[in-house]
Parts: sequence; C-alpha cells; structure tokens
Amino acid sequence: MQVANKVALITGSGKGLGKAFAGALLQRGARVCLSDVNPETLQTTHDQYASKFGRENVCSCPCDVTVEANLKDLFSKARQDLKGLDIVVNNAGIADESKWDKMVDINLKGVISGTLMGMEAMKTANGGSGGIIVNVASMAGLIPVAHVPAYSATKYGVVAYTKSWAENPESVDNNIRMVCLCPAYTKTDIMKMTDYSVHNSDIANASVVKLGIMSVETVVTAFLKLLDDNDNHGKALSVMNAKGMHYI
Ligand SMILES: NC(=O)c1ccc[n+]([C@@H]2O[C@H](COP(=O)([O-])OP(=O)(O)OC[C@H]3O[C@@H](n4cnc5c(N)ncnc54)[C@H](O)[C@@H]3O)[C@@H](O)[C@H]2O)c1
Repeated sequence: MQVANKVALITGSGKGLGKAFAGALLQRGARVCLSDVNPETLQTTHDQYASKFGRENVCSCPCDVTVEANLKDLFSKARQDLKGLDIVVNNAGIADESKWDKMVDINLKGVISGTLMGMEAMKTANGGSGGIIVNVASMAGLIPVAHVPAYSATKYGVVAYTKSWAENPESVDNNIRMVCLCPAYTKTDIMKMTDYSVHNSDIANASVVKLGIMSVETVVTAFLKLLDDNDNHGKALSVMNAKGMHYI
C-alpha cells in the first residue's frame, strides 16, 4: 500500500509503539487520527505532530478501547476530520497479570471491537473503499510465555481472531487486508508496567535476557513492511532481535 495521502487511525498512540507508528505514517505523507485513554500524553503527541507535520494532517480523540461509545466517536472523528479511513491500527494494550480481566478487555475485546468498526467503516456498501487493519499482537501470541499466561492468551486470541477474519470472504470481498504484528520485547513503558513477579520473576528475567529488548525503530520497520507487502492477508509478522522478521 502506498501510504501517502491515506488516512490512518491508531488506538493507544499517545506514546510507545502507537506514537512511533503514527510518526512513521505522517513522515510518509499519511493523515493520522491519534487516540489514547490518557488525555495528557495524547494532547502532547498531538501538539508535537501537528507542529511537525501540519495541523491539517493530524487529529486526535480520547478513547478507551473498552468503551464502545468512545470507539464509535473515534471512528467518526477520523472519517469526518481527515476525510476517509484506509488504515486501522488496533494497538492499545497493557501487560499486567494482576489485572487479567481488564487486560482481556483491552488487549482482546478492544481489538475485536476496533476490527469490527474498521470493517464497517471500510466496507464498500458503507461508502468505504477497503484498506488494511493491523492488529498489534505479540510474540506472546505465537509462543507460550510462562510468566505472563493471561497476556499470552490475549495475544493468541488477537492472532486467531485476525487470521479467522482473513479466511472470511467478507474481508476479501471488501478489499480489507487483515494482518497481525507480533514483536518480542521492545523498549517502551509497557516493559516497566509489567508485574512479572505475579508468576515467576526468574523465568521472566531469563526470557528477557534470552530474547533481548528491541528498539522501537525495529518494530516500526516491521509495521511499515506489513503495510507495503500487499500479499500478506491473514499473516502474522513475527519480529525478533536475533531472528529478524518472519511471516507466520
Ligand atoms: N513493548 C513491548 O515489549 C511489546 C511487545 C509486543 C507487543 N506489544 C504490544 O504493543 C502495543 C503497544 O504497547 P507499547 O509497548 O507501545 O506500550 P506503552 O505502554 O508504551 O503504550 C500503550 C499505550 O496504550 C494506551 N492504553 C492503555 N490502555 C488503553 C485503553 N483501555 N484504551 C486506549 N488506550 C490504552 C496507553 O495509555 C499507552 O499510551 C500493545 O498492544 C502491546 O501489547 C508491546
């Protein structure tokens, strides 16, 4: 997909990977609707990108992905302010085993809601012209991770959900490409949030040492590859320091 002049919406883009994805899209000439549950980081990122890339190319909308009405407002705002919708990135996520039910709400149910709204917005019958939905899973959605079982379950769910939709003719018939991004450990604040001690901090530490911690830039490169590769419908792209990028 040529990103220039496309319209993108990214959940959880006040900071971290979502913010970096937004910056990469704006750099390539897309228009981006930012959103986050945290209004302060959202405003800061909005102001930073609006001054760098032009006010007409950026909008923002506070949104908790667990609240259906928030998501509806977000999709409406993106389509109205930026005149269209071509790229939906369901990125918002947390990693906190002590709040596993909240984590399921955000990481899995939030992605399902965002995918369904993205499909509705992009359907030809509703005035859309197709596009791409990128669901941010994790390496923990491809291999079991002993110290974060609930997080891993949510990310396996995201991969399964995305791949299942890709098998459904409704996505192909509407020219909606559905893909997953599956990075290993990456240097963002989510690494600080995680209370690894809930299950076993020794296993956690060993896992982080074994896989290493990637830079945000490495994951942005993988994100852009997902957009560029037009023949990856239904694929998950794993991203690891040592092994590079692989489609699964
Ligand atoms: N950093 C990693 O090691 C890593 C690895 C694999 C996958 N991921 C995934 O990447 C995504 C982004 O994570 P990150 O590393 O940038 O973390 P981060 O903590 O830096 O950013 C997450 C963003 O999501 C927002 N958010 C949290 N709950 C929300 C909600 N209910 N509604 C809307 N926004 C909400 C936060 O406010 C924050 O801005 C997550 O889905 C995460 O699971 C991260």
